Amino acid sequence: MESRVLFSSQFNFPVNSPLKNRETSIAPFTPPRNVLSLSFRSSVDRFAVRIGPRPFVKAVSFAPKIVAEVDDGSRDEPRRKKLAVFVSGGGSNFRKIHEGCSDGSVNGDVVLLVTNKKDCGGAEYARSNGIPVLVFPKAKREPSHGLSPSELVDVLRKYGVDFVLLAGYLKLIPFELVQAFPKRILNIHPALLPAFGGKGLYGIRVHKAVLESGARYSGPSIHFVDEEYDTGQILAQSAVRVIANDTPEELAKRVLHEEHKLYVEVVAAIWEERIKWREDGVPLIQSKENPDEYY
Ligand code: GRF
Repeated sequence: MESRVLFSSQFNFPVNSPLKNRETSIAPFTPPRNVLSLSFRSSVDRFAVRIGPRPFVKAVSFAPKIVAEVDDGSRDEPRRKKLAVFVSGGGSNFRKIHEGCSDGSVNGDVVLLVTNKKDCGGAEYARSNGIPVLVFPKAKREPSHGLSPSELVDVLRKYGVDFVLLAGYLKLIPFELVQAFPKRILNIHPALLPAFGGKGLYGIRVHKAVLESGARYSGPSIHFVDEEYDTGQILAQSAVRVIANDTPEELAKRVLHEEHKLYVEVVAAIWEERIKWREDGVPLIQSKENPDEYY
């Protein structure tokens, strides 16, 4: 069974807080009876999610102090936003976002596809849909191809890009880009951060690490991007149950299915200005149905 649970409102400790060698409760409020509590034991490889008799809580209704809304770059009336998507592989998340733009679930357009692998599936899909493809960074073997960080920033600005979405892009995002698009770069990771992330933890390796840890839940995380791998503020997560005899490939397939839904939902929330920043700097999503509810 897969159910949606979004944890972002509950991670109010600093990302680099010392979690080692002690059990740390990270819930900032007392969860209602039978709902959900999270704990970290010993170190990130023993990430534990404890669920009460009711399997999941969907959203949390409380009154966070909101200090700012996400700066989506626009100063005028709402308009279709411009997206740049970064990929290194097949680009199934990119396709879902592109489809969301076409079917109206996302009020935006993918205006650029950026890749470090010019012949990857995502780049092929972009070309066949008339989306310009940029190569970044410069390939070592073909330095005549590809952009430098400052050239990339210039092109993104020239195209009027509002938001950058990383979807399976394997290179580190340069400081110039993070600085040029503050709080406007998102990444999707196929596990529940802050566990199972960081340099070298990508693709099937992530799912192997989850299975080896004995974690009972996995699922995608969407987070803002900083200068490190997978350490930016978590914006949304979705839980996927780990089955006792799962293979990494089977788990990856179920997580990817959730990724597709979650990324489109998060991008839609951005355009609808439902990303709110809690006083302590944690980004929350305001429920569309019930504006008093945040998750
Ligand atoms: C996804 O699992 C994503 O979480 C990770 O890379 C994978 C990309 O898959 N960052 P796709 O190219 O979107 O199919």
